[in-house]
Amino acid sequence: MSDAGGLGFLAAAYLKAADVESRLLAARRVTSRPLGVNVFAPGAGPSDAAGYAAYVERLRGWAQHVGAPVGEPRWDDDDWDAKIELLSRAAVEVVSFTFGCPSSELIARLRAGGLEVWITVTGPEEARRATQAGADVLVVQGAEAGGHRASFIDRPDLAAYGLLPLLDLVRTATTLPLVASGGIATGRALAGVLAAGAVAAQIGSAFMLAPEAGTGAAHRRALRSAGETVLTRAFTGRLARGIRNEFIDAHDASAPIAYPEIHYLTASLRKQAREAGDPRWINLWAGEAHELARERPASEIVRELTADARAALEAAHRMPWMAERSPGPPPA
Ligand SMILES: Cc1cc2nc3c(=O)[nH]c(=O)nc-3n(C[C@H](O)[C@H](O)[C@H](O)COP(=O)(O)O)c2cc1C
Repeated sequence: MSDAGGLGFLAAAYLKAADVESRLLAARRVTSRPLGVNVFAPGAGPSDAAGYAAYVERLRGWAQHVGAPVGEPRWDDDDWDAKIELLSRAAVEVVSFTFGCPSSELIARLRAGGLEVWITVTGPEEARRATQAGADVLVVQGAEAGGHRASFIDRPDLAAYGLLPLLDLVRTATTLPLVASGGIATGRALAGVLAAGAVAAQIGSAFMLAPEAGTGAAHRRALRSAGETVLTRAFTGRLARGIRNEFIDAHDASAPIAYPEIHYLTASLRKQAREAGDPRWINLWAGEAHELARERPASEIVRELTADARAALEAAHRMPWMAERSPGPPPA
């Protein structure tokens, strides 16, 4: 992907720092172009167990009924200190943070080590905070995006801005370069966000059928079909967009805000469903445009998106519809 002109990111979430390091070395062997690493910022600390106890009971009862395993809810910081230590010495050009904005001291330290620091934001206030903290670039994630909402904190009344209004709103809060993310699967959509002022797009779902993607068989089948996506906390205790399935229908309404506790509670049942190729209980993360994903090598997808975006921008520049309908010169 990086060799085709994109910027490949290594997802460091749910991995120990040592595993991130070995994956990074493997990625380095296949490209000499710049690489990014994405890290989940840890939350403030464990959630109050009383707030999610009823959901744990509910899932235990349900799991027993359907014969699925559930795990123990627990909190961790996803090996944060070790990952930061790794980033300060690893051969990587960009680090992006999701679920929060590190302190200005930490951002300054990473930048002093030569890293570019990107922060994912989902609203103008988060954009303001990330700018003040010293970020280089903001990833602007609209509600169309597949996977977790990157919000600094999760709360019941979280605003879910669509990408285009969000780009405009974030622009009022910062002058930093913006990378647009959410529901972009074609060169036309890429052209749209570039015209709206983004310098680049971050694309997930459109790459998930590529042979290089680690997407499981059941997830691939679901992505190809025209399934409706929804935002849910049922799988992880944090809001995320995925293809609607039986697990979401059964548990979404009862799901608490408790991340990563609920992630660990459901991890084993999701793993079992993935291994069995059973889409009913898998977290089928996908953005709103997932059915446009194509089974093509990642490098081809990058090249096609770029070429189509150029063509779309040129076509839009001519504004044919406006030209046809604009009034002629005033009568002499
Ligand atoms: C399967 C899947 C996994 C994702 N994992 C991460 C992740 O680890 N870190 C992150 O910042 N964003 C993650 N995202 C969100 C993407 O960074 C991006 O915001 C999203 O894919 C954009 O929307 P799209 O899927 O419609 O292109 C993930 C998205 C998907 C679909």
